[in-house]
Amino acid sequence: MTPIVTSFFDPDTWTVSHVVCEKAGTACAIIDSVLDYDPKSGRTRTASANKLVAFVHAQNLQVAWILETHAHADHLSAAHYLRGKLGGKIAIGAAITQVQDVFKRVFNLEPGFRADGRQFDHLLQDGETFAVGALQAQALSVPGHTPACMAYRIGDTVFVGDTLFMPDVGTARCDFPGGHAPALYRSVRRLLSLPPETRLFMCHDYPPEGRSPIWETTVAEQRAKNIHVHDGVSEVEFVKMRAARDATLDMPTLILPSVQVNIRAGEMPPAEDNGVSYLKIPLNAL
Ligand SMILES: [Fe+2]
Repeated sequence: MTPIVTSFFDPDTWTVSHVVCEKAGTACAIIDSVLDYDPKSGRTRTASANKLVAFVHAQNLQVAWILETHAHADHLSAAHYLRGKLGGKIAIGAAITQVQDVFKRVFNLEPGFRADGRQFDHLLQDGETFAVGALQAQALSVPGHTPACMAYRIGDTVFVGDTLFMPDVGTARCDFPGGHAPALYRSVRRLLSLPPETRLFMCHDYPPEGRSPIWETTVAEQRAKNIHVHDGVSEVEFVKMRAARDATLDMPTLILPSVQVNIRAGEMPPAEDNGVSYLKIPLNAL
């Protein structure tokens, strides 16, 4: 079954959120939502998330799942906000506990923060199937960019998260804690072994000068044209390319706030005794 995919591009973080359903009036899944965040003022806004809310209402959709492909390092997730507005279960790959464990220590989080995934409604295992109304869905473990990355196959369409970018952009970095370029190569090959006509939806686009953002491609197109992992590129060549390239990349602007919020499924840290919630900056630790 081919789902209807409606995508929302956030130009501030180059993130694409997707709403996936069989048709209007049925169940849907929301994948990789964005909570707007201004690092200068420390203020969050829900303009991007409210576009999803308005669309869900306009199409009379019932949110079954709010899916995260991974704990993003470049934007805050609106999952917690959306669940409050629309219902649904927040799910992420089960290896999120490894990511939580690392960042619990990096940020010296409060003792009440447990690195056991309890902040999410459901932790998905590799190969686990679930339903989005009449659509069959499956979680596909694709570690490499982070250890907990999941791709989601819904009907005949796959949402790849940060494994692949559009063919002219390539692949995601592997230098965050738990990242591993050989694992990413194998994860990409796993996705590219799907039928050639399989539709693939990206979580980001960083368009080269002169083209507009796009986020849909196919297995066949990636195998033929992806600048990092087209057919014929070996694992050794890929790992060498990735290491050289990752060494040149700056930290994402929002990595510190993003990670702290996203390992809590998009919820803010507990408020302090003045009622204000704070994020931390670890000095000279990363
Ligand atoms: Fe990412």
